[in-house]
Amino acid sequence: MRHFLTLADFSKQEILEILDIAKSLKKDLKAGKYSNLLERKTLGMIFEKNSTRTRVSFETGIYQLGGQGIFLSSNETQLGRGEPIKDTSRVLSSMVDLIMMRTHEHARLEEFAHYSSIPVINGLSDSFHPMQLLADYLTMQECQKDKNPIVTYVGDGNNMAHSWLMLAAKMGFELRIASPKNYEVSPDIYQKAREFAKISGAKLIVTNNPQEALANADVVTTDTWASMGQENEKEARKKAFKGYCITKDSMQLAKPDCIFLHCLPAYREQEVSEEVLESSQSKIFLEAENRLHAQKGVMVWLHQNR
Ligand code: CP
Ligand code: NVA
Repeated sequence: MRHFLTLADFSKQEILEILDIAKSLKKDLKAGKYSNLLERKTLGMIFEKNSTRTRVSFETGIYQLGGQGIFLSSNETQLGRGEPIKDTSRVLSSMVDLIMMRTHEHARLEEFAHYSSIPVINGLSDSFHPMQLLADYLTMQECQKDKNPIVTYVGDGNNMAHSWLMLAAKMGFELRIASPKNYEVSPDIYQKAREFAKISGAKLIVTNNPQEALANADVVTTDTWASMGQENEKEARKKAFKGYCITKDSMQLAKPDCIFLHCLPAYREQEVSEEVLESSQSKIFLEAENRLHAQKGVMVWLHQNR
């Protein structure tokens, strides 16, 4: 049985298989066709942090596949009152068919998965957001930016940056990450990605110079400067990230037909200008929609490979 905790655990072939399922389900949905691939299956969705896209896309996705989702906010379950993860995991394993968990430390997800006898999906942890990256790659495929692209991520070395490292390392493309000093990606995760890159031929560049990183890019992306749980660092981060906002000028350093991606929610005039977000190069709403299709792909793939 497989879990979906990070892209590190998946081969390029498997990532493409998941996306093929996602594309086929998207095509069916657009034609008004529904399949019952997960009929009577239940997805438990544990949220220890806020969410709009992840919650709605998982709940809608499982319903469209013939199953149902149960929203489990940590405030309203015994997890929030300190029931151990190892107990919660074994209890839920005996009742539902799949688990999605959004949490703080990545180790919480690993512990949950360790005790679980059903597939566990990472809906975001402090270290990784792999579901988002599947939607991002699906968007790149649809915009024809998946053949040897140069992808530039400007911003915090956070869960999104780490997940971009894993995606590039697995798929074999060039990724440049520009972050301010002291806000770079985790050296351990970078090292792990470099190991995978040796096999895939990916080129991974980490720098403090956004302009250099943006030159000739096919895809430009960023994320919030203060992630969930870092609310009290907001002001310090605003200062540290000065010069890291993606503006029209930044986009002009990239290829003329480059696209802009952002996992959302976006903070206007901080990591990105309103002008770029609302420009024709911005594919943020296609990207958000693709969360639904990518998630359906993962749930079906995990069910088929259980
Ligand atoms: N991008 C993303 O995961 O959005 P939510 O936090 O709204 O789920
Ligand atoms: N890095 C952000 C992503 C939100 C989808 C966070 O963790 O809050």
